[in-house]
Amino acid sequence: TASVVRAEANQPINPVIRKEEAKVVDSVLVAELSKPLTAYCRCWRSGTFPLCDGSHVKHNKATGDNVGPLLVKKQE
Ligand code: FES
Repeated sequence: TASVVRAEANQPINPVIRKEEAKVVDSVLVAELSKPLTAYCRCWRSGTFPLCDGSHVKHNKATGDNVGPLLVKKQE
C-alpha cells in the first residue's frame, strides 16, 4: 500500500556500512583496474563493500528486492 511505501522511504538505505562517516563516497580510477571486470555493490549489504560479494542475492530473496552491482569493465 502507499502507506507502506512511505514508511520504507523514511528508512536509511545503508543499514551498517561505515556509519561513522558523514557521507560514504568511493572513487574508481578506471585506467588502474587490473581485472577486466569489477563488480561494485549497490545493495549496501556486501561484506567487501564497495565491492560486490554476492550478498544482493540473499537480500533479493529475503525482501523481493531486485538490486544488483555496478559492473565496471576495463576498456580493451
Ligand atoms: Fe551488494 Fe552485490 S553484494 S550488489
